Amino acid sequence: MSFPKTFSWGAASASYQIEGGAFEDGKGLSIWDSYSHRPGKTFNGHNGDISCDAYHRFEEDLDLMQELGIRNYRFSLSWARIIPDGSGQVNQAGLDYYDKLVNGCLMRNITPWITLYHWDLPRALYLKGGWLNRDTSHAFARYASIVAKHFSVRVKHFMTINEPQCVIGLGHLDAVHAPGTRLGDEDMFLSWHHLLLAHGLAVKAIRAAIPKASIGLASTGKLGYTSRKDIPSPEDLSRASFYTSREEASGNYYFNHQWLLDPVCLGHYPKDPVSPCYPYARKVKAEDLRTISAPIDFIGLNIYNGFEMEAAAPDPGTDDREDRKQAEAEPEHQPKTKRKQEEALAYVPVDKYPGYPRTALKWPVTPEVLYWGPRLIYERYGLPMVIAENGQSCNDRIFLDEEVHDPDRIDFLHRYLLELKAAVEEGIPVTGYFHWSFTDNLEWHSGYDDRFGLIYIDYRNLQRIPKDSAQWYSRIIRGNGSDL
Ligand code: BGC
Repeated sequence: MSFPKTFSWGAASASYQIEGGAFEDGKGLSIWDSYSHRPGKTFNGHNGDISCDAYHRFEEDLDLMQELGIRNYRFSLSWARIIPDGSGQVNQAGLDYYDKLVNGCLMRNITPWITLYHWDLPRALYLKGGWLNRDTSHAFARYASIVAKHFSVRVKHFMTINEPQCVIGLGHLDAVHAPGTRLGDEDMFLSWHHLLLAHGLAVKAIRAAIPKASIGLASTGKLGYTSRKDIPSPEDLSRASFYTSREEASGNYYFNHQWLLDPVCLGHYPKDPVSPCYPYARKVKAEDLRTISAPIDFIGLNIYNGFEMEAAAPDPGTDDREDRKQAEAEPEHQPKTKRKQEEALAYVPVDKYPGYPRTALKWPVTPEVLYWGPRLIYERYGLPMVIAENGQSCNDRIFLDEEVHDPDRIDFLHRYLLELKAAVEEGIPVTGYFHWSFTDNLEWHSGYDDRFGLIYIDYRNLQRIPKDSAQWYSRIIRGNGSDL
């Protein structure tokens, strides 16, 4: 057995990262249009004004996709292109562009997967408070409804929001992404909650317009893995992975799957007293949680890397005894480690070895996470999944023979897809895989310095050059993974 015949092989992109046409045909400004123009915010001042110019060159991109046999395209819509101020009049020219894009996909036998929000909030909504303002959730639901009604006959697959973890963590905590604010714990939770509310309201709106729609969202975060598949206690690994993910995210306590997927899929926020979000999460009304947990059809997982774990050495108990004795003597005494204070974990993170493999962006290469990630998420939430993003940045360049050779990316994909295949063969319901990204593009604050694409973009003339990895991926898709 291998990948089922129905497996959706695809590639992904996002509006602000590829479109350009930032000020054309009545499009409103998004927070990224203004953020990228603020001095010092992006690498060398790069911005998405022109980017890959997909706004004018999407036909060329779709032709390449068709030639490679990529049959699923995940792209996001620019909310401000469709509704320039986010909540008012619809811009017909914006819809016309996405009509051409969707029709272009369908004509080429490519299934469109629409993401409604990949971080480019209309600036007008930001000026009214952005995600801190509950009205933004309702504006998002209206936008979702307009889009769903418009495409009801042509599009079946939707993702509401891409990586709320990054919207909040990078945009409102670390302040390295638009809008670049740093909020206090309470406001941060409020913004988080409004994003999730927006998701739930949008699910309802899409479902009302397209009862047979397949709806999900894209989640990201730290995930633990171990090198052995047949471990004695997968539940323990799961508990340790979900628990440790918070610590591994070094300070970004939203960068894990459970703070998003527990409310969305289980209808409650995690009972996690150590998290700074917990005091506010406890006060959320049941009605909001009902909205947030509107049933979805699949979980989109953006998985790039994970952290290795190994079975913990048995606790000799001495430390605990010491702690207990001291606690009796002085009630204020804190146990030596936070973990001991809460619960003993059967798995603990392994230190990375010197010279461990890394991508050009210095992200660790950890293929096993594409087996363990879906497995752990499935054990916790029991829903079908698609890998909505996976890939690596390389220092790609045009070689003397005028081709772009990227053996690192091929090796990365080969290793990761072998792990995914193992998960699918074990019956873990992953129904699709989207390579990030189809073309090189604007890597947010890193500008055009990082290249994730299967297609190289020469930014001097916007020429597209399929990399070796594009041909390799094409072969894998045509054989439905049998060549792995
Ligand atoms: C985002 C993409 C981004 C990619 C690589 C994901 O978190 O969804 O927009 O380009 O990671 O950083």
